[in-house]
Amino acid sequence: MTEADGRHGLTVLGATGSIGTSTLDLVRRNPDTFKVVALTAHSRILELAEAAREFNAELAVTSDPARYQDLKAALEGSGIEVAAGPEAVVEAARRPSARTVMAAIVGAAGLAPTLAAVARGARVALANKECLVCAGDLMTAAVADSGAVLLPVDSEHNAIFQVFDDERREGIEKIILTASGGPFRRTALEDMRAVTPEQAVAHPNWSMGAKISVDSASMMNKGLELIEAHHLFAMPESRIDILVHPQSVIHSMVAYVDGSVLAQLGCPDMRTPIAYALAWPARMKAPVERLDLGKIATLSFEAPDLVRFPALRLAREALRQGGGAPTILNAANEVAVAAFLGRRIGFLDIAAVVDATLARLDPKAPASIDEVIGLDAAARRTAEDLLGSVVAAQ
Ligand SMILES: NC(=O)c1ccc[n+]([C@@H]2O[C@H](COP(=O)([O-])OP(=O)(O)OC[C@H]3O[C@@H](n4cnc5c(N)ncnc54)[C@H](OP(=O)(O)O)[C@@H]3O)[C@@H](O)[C@H]2O)c1
Repeated sequence: MTEADGRHGLTVLGATGSIGTSTLDLVRRNPDTFKVVALTAHSRILELAEAAREFNAELAVTSDPARYQDLKAALEGSGIEVAAGPEAVVEAARRPSARTVMAAIVGAAGLAPTLAAVARGARVALANKECLVCAGDLMTAAVADSGAVLLPVDSEHNAIFQVFDDERREGIEKIILTASGGPFRRTALEDMRAVTPEQAVAHPNWSMGAKISVDSASMMNKGLELIEAHHLFAMPESRIDILVHPQSVIHSMVAYVDGSVLAQLGCPDMRTPIAYALAWPARMKAPVERLDLGKIATLSFEAPDLVRFPALRLAREALRQGGGAPTILNAANEVAVAAFLGRRIGFLDIAAVVDATLARLDPKAPASIDEVIGLDAAARRTAEDLLGSVVAAQ
C-alpha cells in the first residue's frame, strides 16, 4: 500500500543489524520515496530509539519484553508507539501501511514475523535465509496463498533473481552459487581447530553480523543458501552448484541449456541487493563503489573443499533428505555458532554438533508452523546437550 503522502511504506524487522542499518542508510538518502512504518530490534535499544526518532517511525518494537521500559524511556515525548515481545514483532510485520517489509532478523526468530508479512500479501525483502531453511515448504505455500512477493536480499539470490528467466524455466539448466570461501579458505584443517571468534568474524570481503560471518567462515552459510535457493527458485539440489570465487565480484550465475551463462556482478556491498529489493521492479541509486574490472584484473574460481568445510556436505544431505532435516540443521547450527562465539566449543565442533544433532532426531516433515517451532526447539535442546559432550571430550 502506498502512503497517503505518496511515499512507499516500509517496515524494517531487525533494524539495528547490519542489513537493517544498510536499509536505513538507503531510506535516509531517499526521504521522498520511503516512509518508515515500524522498526524492530532485540537488544540495541538506544540505536533502535535513535532510528525511530530519525525516521519518525509510527512504531518501535523490541522483541525482548525485559527491555520495554528502556525503550519507552528512550522514546519519551516522541509520540512514537512502543511495544515489546515476540508477538509485538509479529504485529509490527502485520501493519498494513507498510507495503514492503525488510525481513532482517537473524535466525529462526525471524520466522513468525516474516510469515506474518507474507500472510498479508506484503512485498517481503527477504534477508533472513534461516526462515526459508527451516520452513521453506510452508513459506512458499504461504506466498502462493497470499500473493505476497518474495524479493531475495541475500546477494547470491538477488543476483540469481536478476538473471533467472522465470517465464521460460525450461531453458534453465542450473544455478551456480558463488562463495568467497571465507577467512579460512587457505587454512589447514589442523589450524582451523584453534581459530578464535575474532578470526572467524573477520570476513575478507563483506561486513556482516556475527552469526552470518561465522557461517561464512564454516561455509554453513553457503549450505543454508543452497537450501534457500532450492525454495526460492524451485530448483532441485542436483541442479545447484557451488563455486568458490574469492573476489566476491560475481554474486551468482544461471546456466542455460544453450550454453549461455548469465551473471550479476558488483562490488561486495549489501546496499546493491537491498536497493534492488526495495525499488523492484525499478532501480534506485545506491551509494556503492562502482565496479572497475580493469583494476580488479583477475577473477578466480575453485571447487569447494568438502573435507575442510563439512557444513557444505551436511546442508546438501539435509536438503536431499528433506522433511525436517533442514530445520534440525539450522537450529543445531544456531546453537553451535552461539556456543562458538561464547568460547564454549571450538570452530570445527560447529559442524560436529550439527552432524550429531541430525543423527539423533527423526526428520519427519513438519506439517505446520507449530510443528516447525516444535522441531526447532527439540533440535536446540539436543544440540545443547551435545555441546556438553563436545566440551567434556576436550
Ligand atoms: N549482513 C549481511 O551482509 C547479510 C547478507 C545476506 C544475508 N543476511 C541475513 O540477514 C539476516 C540478518 O543478518 P545481519 O548480518 O544483519 O545480522 P545482525 O547484524 O546480527 O542483526 C540482526 C538483527 O536481528 C535482531 N535480533 C537478534 N535476535 C533477535 C530475536 N531473538 N528476535 C528478534 N530480533 C532479533 C537484532 O537486534 P539487536 O541488534 O537489537 O539485538 C538485529 O536487529 C540473517 O538472516 C543473515 O543470514 C545478512
